[in-house]
Amino acid sequence: MSIAPQLKDEQLPSGAEAMREARSASQIGPFDYCPKVGFREYWYPGIQAKRVGREPIHQVMLGDDLVFFRDKDGKVVALSDWCPHRGARLSRGNCEFKGTIACPYHGYVFDGTGQCVAGLVESPDSPFVPKLRAQKYPTAEHEGLVYVWMGKTEPVPLEQDLPMEFLDPTLTHYRYLEVRVWEANWVEPVAQGIDFHAAYLHRNVNFWRFFNRDLTFFRPRMISQGGCKIVADGEDYVNVDYANVRYGQDYYPGFDAKWPRHVWWRILRRKKGPGMTGKPFVNYKYNAQLPSIIRVTRGSSIHMRWMVPLNEDETRVWTFTIIKKPKTRLRQLYEDVWYWGWRRPDEVINTNVYEDLVVFKKGRLNLDRPQKLGPLDAGLIYFRRHLARRSRDFKRLGGAEGCLKAPPGTYPVEDGRTDHQRK
Ligand code: FES
Ligand SMILES: [Fe+2]
Repeated sequence: MSIAPQLKDEQLPSGAEAMREARSASQIGPFDYCPKVGFREYWYPGIQAKRVGREPIHQVMLGDDLVFFRDKDGKVVALSDWCPHRGARLSRGNCEFKGTIACPYHGYVFDGTGQCVAGLVESPDSPFVPKLRAQKYPTAEHEGLVYVWMGKTEPVPLEQDLPMEFLDPTLTHYRYLEVRVWEANWVEPVAQGIDFHAAYLHRNVNFWRFFNRDLTFFRPRMISQGGCKIVADGEDYVNVDYANVRYGQDYYPGFDAKWPRHVWWRILRRKKGPGMTGKPFVNYKYNAQLPSIIRVTRGSSIHMRWMVPLNEDETRVWTFTIIKKPKTRLRQLYEDVWYWGWRRPDEVINTNVYEDLVVFKKGRLNLDRPQKLGPLDAGLIYFRRHLARRSRDFKRLGGAEGCLKAPPGTYPVEDGRTDHQRK
């Protein structure tokens, strides 16, 4: 993703189109072009290398059961967890011989490439052994995080799919990381990164917000945003911002009263307007990027989440808090206290888990019903309609497995041009 300058409507054909669609209500569904268990032709974060020791580790990614272990060079590798012999779980076996994994059922042993190298109880010189091969998933490690290529086609270089922040040496990469499984389909945690629910869902004061100069209690409260506007877009991302923010209190003719109703304890106006503490080092506020990354800027930090679908109802959510790398040890200590003592419990846990997830977890949000998207959803319409169809699944496979309107083969395999360029 590159950060594009702010563009005008007419320079943004598909973005402007999404905004027009939003004003007149769009009915594009969450799974029209987005697959229920995620786009496949991408690298996704799989596991922290330090978790893979002498024992094999099972992990589900995009509906596939994987087993992680170390090959003869000590590199973390991933195979399908289902043994090619009779389908037992390799992860229930062991890594008794360096660089291999032995299936617990009949003792066929596989190396890091997936090739069977021995049939322990069959015979030492079995002619069957060379014919047995487990499915391998390409893996690549970056600073201790193991990424897995989930696609059917040739993997692209890992750098192409790494968030640009991880390639910038001035930023903290994986230092502030939280990994949790959320009981929700992946599309909703992506949608909420660009859907402008914050002024309502996160409107209330709580313990952590008493310590937060930037949120509800200490600032004029943002009550409406006039919808959202697309401020930049590109091949694989969209940046959105508030269209027209109003603060304090407003009159709503629909119920002939003001809202919020009680404002006596609030600051209603501030001359310079509210502002986050800390100077942002990027020029976007809300961002979504293929295949399933969102970013929200908070002052001089980026709240980045990368969703890895497990199945239709569960998602492993990797939350990275990115800041400028501190230059002194004292500053480092300060940042660690800031993250562990406040940022993580406040935003990553309290806001995301106890406010966001509670609303959209399984059973609380119905993704099967028709949806009518409006001005709050311009970014979301853009993601669902335009970004999804620019995904590598569409480019390489002509569609995406598990979406409603475009299974593989539905679209012409692309020539490398974007929707923009083709118009
Ligand atoms: S099922 Fe794995 S060795 Fe037989
Ligand atoms: Fe939220």
